[in-house]
Amino acid sequence: MKTPICDFVNAYGDSGAVRLHMPGHKGVSRLGCESRDITEIGGADMLYRSGGIIRESEDNAAALFGTARTVYSAEGSSLCIRGMLYLAMQATGRRTFWAGRNAHSTFVTACALLDAEVEWLWGGDTLTACGVTAEQLHQRLHKTAEKPAAVYVTSPDYLGNVLDIAAIAEVCHRHGVLLLVDNAHGAYLRFLPEDKHPISLGADLCCDSAHKTLPVLTGGAYLHISPAAAELGEQAEHAMSLFASTSPSYLILQSLDACNAYLNDGFSADVAACCEEVQELKDALSAHGYTLVGDEPLKITVATKGYGYTGDAVAAYLEKRSIVCEFADPDYLVMMFAPCNAKEDFDRVETVLCGLEKQKPLSEAAPKMPKPQVKTSLREALFASAEVLPLSACVGRVLASPTVSCPPAVPVLVGGEVVDESAAAVFRYYGYETLRVVKE
Ligand SMILES: Cc1ncc(COP(=O)(O)O)c(C=O)c1O
Repeated sequence: MKTPICDFVNAYGDSGAVRLHMPGHKGVSRLGCESRDITEIGGADMLYRSGGIIRESEDNAAALFGTARTVYSAEGSSLCIRGMLYLAMQATGRRTFWAGRNAHSTFVTACALLDAEVEWLWGGDTLTACGVTAEQLHQRLHKTAEKPAAVYVTSPDYLGNVLDIAAIAEVCHRHGVLLLVDNAHGAYLRFLPEDKHPISLGADLCCDSAHKTLPVLTGGAYLHISPAAAELGEQAEHAMSLFASTSPSYLILQSLDACNAYLNDGFSADVAACCEEVQELKDALSAHGYTLVGDEPLKITVATKGYGYTGDAVAAYLEKRSIVCEFADPDYLVMMFAPCNAKEDFDRVETVLCGLEKQKPLSEAAPKMPKPQVKTSLREALFASAEVLPLSACVGRVLASPTVSCPPAVPVLVGGEVVDESAAAVFRYYGYETLRVVKE
């Protein structure tokens, strides 16, 4: 597969051209990557008015992912999420989303900025997981005359739980509703021996953070449009351009472009081998007494309390031994693997984790997620005058904007909701000391 963006930048570097355009480093090296860091000069195409090398590269990505249109983002899935919501609102003329409550904070702030409403789908009592089911959706869609602009779910979630996207898509389409999937953690799902990518399973639109699971620089992501929703592709660049920088990083674009060649040739075999290594490690950890949760084949999520530690404590133990994990909280430790991990990485994790002495299980459970009272819309709360107060002073107050720690950037409460005692307990449990609340 050709890599037109990389080829263009290579040829430009070799040409010895005098750079009288941005960026100001003029290709002179401080970090080592400057000569490849160009801007939208003649021949380099334009990210959201594409028709040259970028479009050619995006078409390669679309062929690889089986989409009607794939548009690049140099600003993560966060940008794609704003674009997706705009596309669904514009296409349907509706402004309400039905969304799994474990949505990333970008979804929440995008709704506030777009003046969209959210009706939450609840599916469990934990912060990061939300087990939305096809049956639950069917019951709700069946009873509702006013359909949403789209159903919006997160799969895989931060802990590696994967929803039944095929069944959820079938229900959405039976009721004439678009399905949008936050697949930030699942770009690689397309390349598993059994293709499990949301677009292949029936989602209409989805975002993938290429940088999270593929060998792509941080910030590289895709907005995918399915063949069934192909007409939305015409507006996709416009949708992204509403929220994007006018100076996209060509380093990131080259990284996405170079990745296409690997996805086309070699990645599927490498990912299958990596899944086997991960499964072997999962088996070894389970056999040693660890409790694992989640169903993602490249992620290992340990529910650490059964082993006698908080997730944070195990993460600190690993970090002291130069093993740095993706995420930890009081209950979980999340390790993300990819084909670029060496065989020794797996051995080392097994040796170090199995070297940790099992202790008496910790019994403190995470407090139940609150079902909060809603006082104002997301937008009203976001634009209201606000103040940051210690958590103890926030009980009874209305949250102004989601206060999140990243990762996992899943809000306990969203703007407009009342901080009651049960919400305060959850905030306290996850270590929040202050909140941004609406001024009284
Ligand atoms: C579930 C989920 N969605 C969206 C995002 C945002 O992705 P990005 O960092 O690529 O903008 C993240 C980031 O961690 C995420 O975990």
